[in-house]
Amino acid sequence: MLIDGYKRVHDYLRISLTDSCNLRCFYCMPDEKISCMPHKHLMQPEEIDQIASLFVRLGVKKIRLTGGEPLVRKEAADIIRRLGKYPVELTMTTNGIRLHEFADVLQEAGLRSVNISLDTLQRDTFQHLTRRDHFQQVYDNILLATRLGMRVKVNVVAMKGINDGEINDFVALTQELPLHIRFIEFMPFTGNHWEYARVIGLQEILDIVGQRFQFAPIAHKKHDTAKNFQVEGHAGTFAIISTMTKPFCDDCNRMRLTADGKMKNCLFSRTETDLLSALRQGLDIDPLIRECIATKAAERGGQITDDYTHTDPLLIENRSMIAIGG
Ligand code: GTP
Ligand code: 5AD
Ligand code: SF4
Repeated sequence: MLIDGYKRVHDYLRISLTDSCNLRCFYCMPDEKISCMPHKHLMQPEEIDQIASLFVRLGVKKIRLTGGEPLVRKEAADIIRRLGKYPVELTMTTNGIRLHEFADVLQEAGLRSVNISLDTLQRDTFQHLTRRDHFQQVYDNILLATRLGMRVKVNVVAMKGINDGEINDFVALTQELPLHIRFIEFMPFTGNHWEYARVIGLQEILDIVGQRFQFAPIAHKKHDTAKNFQVEGHAGTFAIISTMTKPFCDDCNRMRLTADGKMKNCLFSRTETDLLSALRQGLDIDPLIRECIATKAAERGGQITDDYTHTDPLLIENRSMIAIGG
């Protein structure tokens, strides 16, 4: 078992398959000219397999594939098939654009759930936010995933002046559709234009929903990042991921592996542990993993204080979101 200095058991591994993406969301990507990792720096399928098998032996029960966009990785199908053989809950966070091309592979690998990012229900806002015209494809694939019987969470990064007027449109979708809409408080990362004025916090979101719907809290699952709610009589639910206003680090069970094989013990960790280089040198990576977990900070990588409103994203030492994978 992997236990940190605060007695938190770590059994959930997020593996990023690539730092490339077929969208260009400003809040996720840095401003610099986009250059992605050279292929030889990426963990290769057999290396991912090898590292994953060690994490499973160390107690991992859930593996989430992330990106950039995981389904643009050339070897995505191979990697999904390899990981499908482990006794873990295998799942994925995707922008949904290519989901239909992978429906069979995902089903064969036993994926029962998928988290799909969609920040707006308006085609023109989608184009403005992502600089691509793929709204309809994403929306259709959300519906496809529900038809395939998957549990579908829709991730909506809530941002003032961009999609705050659509919060209740998303909640309205849950009336007929069994979707789990999750509003995410906008978080600061390198080069992502974060400013406090753009954050829509948990309470503000609940106030907005309360103007149109009657809702009640529903049970909180252990380790859940989201606080969950349901409008009476609706097929789906809605939730808020309140990293900024109400962090949930006390209960954290997450570890991350970047596409180039660096382990991060927190989404906001300043330091990284290079597992891939050690593996390629034939070293035992077990002690490196344990050391990485042992040095995990209590909350938000020790980089965001309780008074988050004054956070300067330029002072946070971290990768950009696209290179972490969420
Ligand atoms: P579940 O496994 O379904 O609970 O999904 P998830 O919320 O862990 O993952 P997802 O990739 O869908 O991420 C949704 C949002 O939650 C993103 O903005 C992530 O950055 C954020 N998130 C995911 N894991 C963590 C975490 O460990 N800490 C914090 N603060 N935010 C997280
Ligand atoms: N703040 C909050 N969520 C973010 N995501 C990407 N960047 C940010 C940010 N700055 C979300 C994506 C995706 C998930 C992995 O993280 O929308 O759903
Ligand atoms: Fe865990 Fe770090 Fe996320 Fe807090 S911010 S829940 S410690 S990964």
